[in-house]
Amino acid sequence: MSSLPEREAAVLWPTYVRPQVEFVRGQGVRLWDARGREYLDFLGGIAVVAAGHAHPKVVEAVSAQLGTLGHTSNLYFTGPQVELAERLVGHVGGDAKVFLSNSGAEANEAAIKVARRWGRANRGEQATGIVATLGGFHGRTLATLAATGKPAMHTPFQPLPPGFSHVPFGDVDALAAAIGPDTAAVLVEPIQGEAGIRVPPPGYLRAVREVTSRAGVLLIVDEIQSGMGRTGRFFAHQHDEIRPDVVTMAKALGSGYPIGATIARTEVAEAMQRGDHGTTFGGNPVACTAALATLDVIEPLLGGHVDKVSTRLADGLGELRGRLTGRSTWAPPTADDPDDGLPGAEVRGAGLWFALDFGPEAPADARQAALAALGRGLVVNPVTDTALRLAPPLVVTEDEIDEGLARLGAALEEAGLCR
Ligand SMILES: Cc1ncc(COP(=O)(O)O)c(C=O)c1O
Repeated sequence: MSSLPEREAAVLWPTYVRPQVEFVRGQGVRLWDARGREYLDFLGGIAVVAAGHAHPKVVEAVSAQLGTLGHTSNLYFTGPQVELAERLVGHVGGDAKVFLSNSGAEANEAAIKVARRWGRANRGEQATGIVATLGGFHGRTLATLAATGKPAMHTPFQPLPPGFSHVPFGDVDALAAAIGPDTAAVLVEPIQGEAGIRVPPPGYLRAVREVTSRAGVLLIVDEIQSGMGRTGRFFAHQHDEIRPDVVTMAKALGSGYPIGATIARTEVAEAMQRGDHGTTFGGNPVACTAALATLDVIEPLLGGHVDKVSTRLADGLGELRGRLTGRSTWAPPTADDPDDGLPGAEVRGAGLWFALDFGPEAPADARQAALAALGRGLVVNPVTDTALRLAPPLVVTEDEIDEGLARLGAALEEAGLCR
């Protein structure tokens, strides 16, 4: 009998590189593999499992809904869809309407479509362009790939849909200069996730709001990774006290049950006409019930709990950063040879969403560090060549944070990154 990796290689597209582990069960912040080994999950399925694995409220709600009514299509009214939209509209401050889909890429596709509809109707036939940021990630469909600011990812799939341009993240002047009569919207992440948890300069998002309002174009904020409480507020843009025109969500919204949401100010949403957009599965009763139960778990954790565990995690990562070293063998620091750690190493992030970046001179890369962590029973991933990403469930306790940090410290020592 061949192994699971061998069977996979025979029948699945070779699009993923996976470590040699098969997870079979999850509970709270912990996972177990097929050999019965236990892990702390500090990645949460890439910022998805905010409520923790198999949260009883989510399991109960999804099971009951699936046993009652799983699917009807969007040809008919279903209660959970309306109830979820009402909850999400409440989170953006009212006066908004929602389109429900199945993933982050689809949520952004809907945002791009509504922006083009709105641009044509309000700014003229030519106003269909989207200005996005270099390093930004918005999905893998052709339009969201075009919006993604990573040119190397575009090359194999050209031609991509036209109408997308990119400016450096964090540079408001470059953004203002890129907006013209052919622009419908600016699309930005509050913190760039896939680029390595890149936090913009303070006040950036607020300045982006001012620039877009002045120019009369839409501001679409991609909260797919940063939203659902990941940074300690329900949406990351709420730290800047701004109101975007369109907000996109997915990932943690359904606790792993696929769902995406595009929330637009009412005036913007109403640029869409009957038949302009649709989906078979989007907003189905089970996905919406999963999202409603997830909101019930997450909402009470915002502020108090997330802030408390965030401080613990940030402090612990800061301490680990201080122990990073480029030396192959450890010697006590001296006045002549102080061992200042690794140049360029840093901790970035907010809430329960951090990158520990080893910088360009580290003796091991982030992939090696993530493998060492896995060996020590900690799940994190190499978000870039030099940085590990941590995005534990929001239900994580201080004790679990301490345990995870201890496992990470041991792994970094083993990888030769830490003394
Ligand atoms: C900011 C952001 N936007 C969009 C996406 C795409 O989401 P999905 O993989 O659900 O299509 C991701 C996924 O990582 C993301 O982080």
